[in-house]
Amino acid sequence: MTIRTYKPRRWRVTRGQAAALATDDALLLRMPGPMLDLKELFDNRPVVMEIGFGGGAATVQMAAANPAIGILAVDVHTAGIGDLLARVRARQLANVRVVKGDALLLAHTMLAAGALAGIRLYFPDPWPKTRHHKRRLVTAANSALLAAHTQPNGFWHIATDWAPYTTQILEVLSASPHWEGGVIARPEDRPATRFENTALRAGRPVTDLYYTRTA
Ligand SMILES: C[S@@+](CC[C@H](N)C(=O)[O-])C[C@H]1O[C@@H](n2cnc3c(N)ncnc32)[C@H](O)[C@@H]1O
Repeated sequence: MTIRTYKPRRWRVTRGQAAALATDDALLLRMPGPMLDLKELFDNRPVVMEIGFGGGAATVQMAAANPAIGILAVDVHTAGIGDLLARVRARQLANVRVVKGDALLLAHTMLAAGALAGIRLYFPDPWPKTRHHKRRLVTAANSALLAAHTQPNGFWHIATDWAPYTTQILEVLSASPHWEGGVIARPEDRPATRFENTALRAGRPVTDLYYTRTA
């Protein structure tokens, strides 16, 4: 269905990550699977989907800071999923569920219309080469798909260190009838992610963008 937006990686899975992945406590949801009942899964909390959490350190900080918000954390890479599962269990967070798989496919096949209160997309793969631009996650088609699964007035918060991607996001979302918004100052409550720290060390400035789902 969708074009792959992530890079294939074969990171070694550590013993700790493997153990975290093997623990069966319903924290990890696998794909393919049945439609998710988010109200039941998150005990009626509003649910925010984070696409591509990496190692999940920032995910856990945000979840701990806001226990009334449910976090549906989605990534494809096994090592990072193991890290996030271990972090969530260590902090005994009740408001996080982790999905292994493609967030776009998840939206398409396992999420009801208007199910999400918001979406977080922090440092999506920039795909700098022109022939790879089609793999960028923020496209007209993906924006329409994500809008369909976000409630009216729900949000989409994006951060990137890749200036040409900022330009693409502004172009795609200003042309979209589903989203309204643009560049914002970096919110103080968004923790720095691993990729953000790498970007800042390399001298690349970071841009935050915030959109609201039109009613
Ligand atoms: C550049 S990393 C950023 C990770 C983290 N957000 C950070 O800032 O440190 C992008 C992440 O997005 C994930 N990703 C890309 N496309 C995805 C998709 N369609 N569904 C789920 N995860 C995806 C990748 O696997 C990778 O972990």
